[in-house]
Amino acid sequence: MNVLGIESSCDDTAVAVVCDGRYVKSSIVASQVQEHKLYGGVVPEIASRRHIESIVQVTMQAINSAQISLSDIDAIAVTYTPGLIGSLLVGVNFAKSLSYALDLPLVPVHHLRSHVASNYISNENLEPPFLCLIVSGGHSHIVYVKSYTNFVVLGKTRDDSAGEVFDKVARRMGLDYPGGVHMDEIAELGDGGVFHFPHPKMQGLDYSFSGLKTAAVNLLHEYEQKGMSLPSSDFAASFRKTVVDCLLEKFKMAMDQSKCEKIAVCGGVSANRLLRRKLKELCDSRSLKLYMPELKYCGDNAAMVGSQGYYEFLSGNIAKLSLNAFSNKPIESKS
Ligand code: KG4
Ligand code: ZN
Repeated sequence: MNVLGIESSCDDTAVAVVCDGRYVKSSIVASQVQEHKLYGGVVPEIASRRHIESIVQVTMQAINSAQISLSDIDAIAVTYTPGLIGSLLVGVNFAKSLSYALDLPLVPVHHLRSHVASNYISNENLEPPFLCLIVSGGHSHIVYVKSYTNFVVLGKTRDDSAGEVFDKVARRMGLDYPGGVHMDEIAELGDGGVFHFPHPKMQGLDYSFSGLKTAAVNLLHEYEQKGMSLPSSDFAASFRKTVVDCLLEKFKMAMDQSKCEKIAVCGGVSANRLLRRKLKELCDSRSLKLYMPELKYCGDNAAMVGSQGYYEFLSGNIAKLSLNAFSNKPIESKS
């Protein structure tokens, strides 16, 4: 079954063709990062306008590079939540038009569910249940993936996400948007033991990153005010180490509680080199099997939408043509 996946929740216009949820026939991503970089972050109105300009061309490219025609598509899957509303509306409306014109089922896909599904593409043997750490630009969740379409949130951030604090602190350091990846690069050259940041103490499995962000920004400010030169690599390495330690502290607790033997990670921040290394060490030390998406499927893409869309379709999650977009909905909810 060929599913056409469409993703436009933030600043990437992406379309992919995925067969039976696992085999990626094509995956095209048109990134807008060069334009948003000029403003230090995503400008929502510009994002919507770029989606509307490029979505038809990106779709045709996805169809062509899959070497199929529109008549070979069996369902249209689209990200309908969460994200920037103006961006989501472009993808949802386009998917509805295609579904109507081609008389194909319209499958609504939750963005975080699709990040989880990036693991099905990269790891053909992975099947639920498993424990997953979802770390994207907007979310930090610990989720028990009971089945392909049944999710139990065990913990999540009460304020900023890990991706958000990477981006905000990186921006304050003068690094380009999106800062997480640049901070990760320079952190590889530094010593993570030079600066010490506070570890937030939250009850249970929830996270909190905003205090850590404020502490880092205050330190940068102090260096600036005193005219001292910042050892950027050491600062980045120390900050990255603190974020990763915080993420893993709660995730370890979730591993103990859930007793899952399969562990996964996903979302843009799952590309972080230190997080990947430490997760591997952690899972090896406990003889647990770790599943990670390939780097090209960590960030936003439509292959993961096509994959999750297949499983949503099998579970009967088909939307009406009145489907709307929502800036936020919990991962547990159906459309
Ligand atoms: O999942 P994603 O592509 O978009 C959202 O759904 O939000 O995640 C984007 C986030 C950004 O905050 C970006 O800085 C972060 O992922 N990111 C990284 C790395 N690569 C991307 N953060 C830390 N280290 C990286 N290597
Ligand atoms: Zn994402």
